[in-house]
Amino acid sequence: MDIKQEISRRRTFAIISHPDAGKTTLTEKLLLYGRAIQSAGSVKGKQNDKHAVSDWMDIEKKRGISITSSVMQFDYDGYCINILDTPGHQDFSEDTYRTLTAADSVVMVIDAAKGIEPQTRKLFKVCAMRHIPIFTFINKMDREARDSFELLDELEKEFGIGTYPMNWPIGCGVNFKGVFDRTKQRILTFEDAHAGGSRIEAIECSLEDTEKLDSLIGEYSRRDLCDELELVEGAGYEFDLEKVRCGELSPVFFGSALNNFGVEPFLENFLKMTTEPLAHKSGDSMIEPTDERFSAFVFKIQANMNKAHRDRIAFMRICSGKFDRANEYFHVQGGKMIKLSRPQQMMAQDRAVIDTAYAGDIIGVFDPGIFAIGDTICEKGMKVQYEGIPTFAPEMFSIVEQIDSLKRKQFDKGITQIAQEGAIQMFFLPDSGMERVYVGVVGQLQLEVLESRMESEYGVKYNRIDTPLSLVRFAEGDIDFKKLNLMQQTKWVKDRLGHDLLLFTAEYEINWALDKNPGLILKEFSQMN
Ligand code: G4P
Repeated sequence: MDIKQEISRRRTFAIISHPDAGKTTLTEKLLLYGRAIQSAGSVKGKQNDKHAVSDWMDIEKKRGISITSSVMQFDYDGYCINILDTPGHQDFSEDTYRTLTAADSVVMVIDAAKGIEPQTRKLFKVCAMRHIPIFTFINKMDREARDSFELLDELEKEFGIGTYPMNWPIGCGVNFKGVFDRTKQRILTFEDAHAGGSRIEAIECSLEDTEKLDSLIGEYSRRDLCDELELVEGAGYEFDLEKVRCGELSPVFFGSALNNFGVEPFLENFLKMTTEPLAHKSGDSMIEPTDERFSAFVFKIQANMNKAHRDRIAFMRICSGKFDRANEYFHVQGGKMIKLSRPQQMMAQDRAVIDTAYAGDIIGVFDPGIFAIGDTICEKGMKVQYEGIPTFAPEMFSIVEQIDSLKRKQFDKGITQIAQEGAIQMFFLPDSGMERVYVGVVGQLQLEVLESRMESEYGVKYNRIDTPLSLVRFAEGDIDFKKLNLMQQTKWVKDRLGHDLLLFTAEYEINWALDKNPGLILKEFSQMN
């Protein structure tokens, strides 16, 4: 296969959902179809000790949530599929946002009983902003569900995009009889426990064949189905692949991941509709994936993913060409040619060293501490620099103090590395060292992960003092920072690159600072990145 063929068979997407909607279960079933795993590793849960392949950190296991994002690759029906699993917990939205930058489309899993939940709302907005195609899987139809029309209406209203149900559910909960496949005009009947990868036989049956329909789903359900379908056809959106591909129309699939119901038709339809690897923006030009020169950007850095491999991995999305392990590549931000060592593809904890990879693929490379999120790596002579990945403003700040001066080095190393990964943000008091730093996060869970990782990976304990600070601004201007006139609660800090920042507890402090310090310019956090 030549490079173009290899690239054109790639499909790279992220799965997002609110925790517990069934993302892990669906991912697992997809992997089963791709024969990437042999049996459902059983979904993580309190009842058993097995964990889904996409989870790995201890703290996730304890809390039963996905924190870190992992990448999985498998072949299915001639396609080469890259799934980016995203952390579902709202505290980890920043990591998720970054992961979305590496995906060409998104699959959103929704719990049929709950509809859109806060986390999906946030993520969805990011996708809509970036015009990423969004495919919706409405899960848990085997349980009591909300009205299907209501769910679609909610999606449309909340996100301002159209929906197109690819199939239509016949009842729900104990009365769930299956779905009607609108494209192929056939019925898929639901029976419990399709789990384990068995195929579900579709039954060809036209809506006019009332006798057969009645025998399949009963007269009552048949009448409901016909009425509902009439409404869907009459009042719903028309199918338009172009609109799907620019994120304006979301194909919707109803099913039950746990029962493996509706997963295979979803996968087949999804693969046909989603796009090949897309072009990426570099300055004013777009770099096509089929450009034979290799280029990639780093979207995630992760240390110590597995205790057996104490290392730091930079994950990069290949944007163009073919990666060859034997070659050296140019690290744009570092200004140097480098060899990407131990390039690997990940399957959650398992990794395989690879020799080649293509545009659309995600590879992890060993990072000796030279990469930062958003960095570009490319073939020599290729003038390319991919757009940076925005850093989100932290909303909580804590002071972290060393308590054991003998472990100063470990403390410095641990907190610096974890900050470089983007798992927390770190700020310093001007003119003081690392013994007392401000840690900025989006949510409480990040602080818990920091504590647990500092202890287990670096053997360090520290004191943490939570503060009421919640707002951050970059501070500039022709002004002597040492003489700034600030309210007592306001703090002046610096980031790793030496930028000046002010931390505030409330909006009025910002106005106060501007009022009392003519010449001071305060900028929103994202403006600087
Ligand atoms: P997540 O990754 O989105 O957080 O969700 P996950 O797949 O872990 O699924 C959350 C729970 O929902 C799991 O239950 C899982 O078995 C269940 N589930 C997933 N898909 C379906 C479905 O189609 N139907 C039904 N009925 N359940 C589904 P758990 O963690 O084992 O138990 P519990 O804590 O929910 O009781």
